[in-house]
Amino acid sequence: MLKEAAALNPGPWEKHSLNVALCAENIASACGMDGERAYVMGLMHDIGRRFGTRHLGHVYDGWKYMLSLGYKDIARICLTHSFCNKNLQDYIGNFDITKAQIAELEAALAATQFDEYDRLIQLCDALGSADGVVDIEERMADVKARYGSYPQEKHDMNIALKNRFEKLCGRNIYQVVGKQP
Ligand SMILES: [Fe+2]
Repeated sequence: MLKEAAALNPGPWEKHSLNVALCAENIASACGMDGERAYVMGLMHDIGRRFGTRHLGHVYDGWKYMLSLGYKDIARICLTHSFCNKNLQDYIGNFDITKAQIAELEAALAATQFDEYDRLIQLCDALGSADGVVDIEERMADVKARYGSYPQEKHDMNIALKNRFEKLCGRNIYQVVGKQP
């Protein structure tokens, strides 16, 4: 499905998705979670990009697309991966959907209780670039440079997520994902 989507809208997001999947698989396995489940979630979290190059639109499109196919667990990841603070307003990028669609996302997000897989993909989205695993602080600095700002609460939550999974694994996260120092 990722290959089919990447053919419709080619871009670095395909390799990013693969790297997020590998990160998620490694961390999940090291934490006693289901590595294969985490892998598939990582692979599919940005699947909304098959419909074109959009910002918040990719969240909405992926969520709806996966729901339409009956993949509820993946739809949930498409919805939650961009909002580690459960706050839609934290989104970095354009709000390129209608007000009604924003309200729909907000309601769905508010009704969702994050589990460890939601948190894992949020973390891995910040760790996996198209080129491989990156330093989470460097990645956030890069986003800040490209978009002009980065919400402090989002920054702090990403670090908290990293610490959470390091505690769960009992290991340094970069060791777990095999990042070269
Ligand atoms: Fe992503």
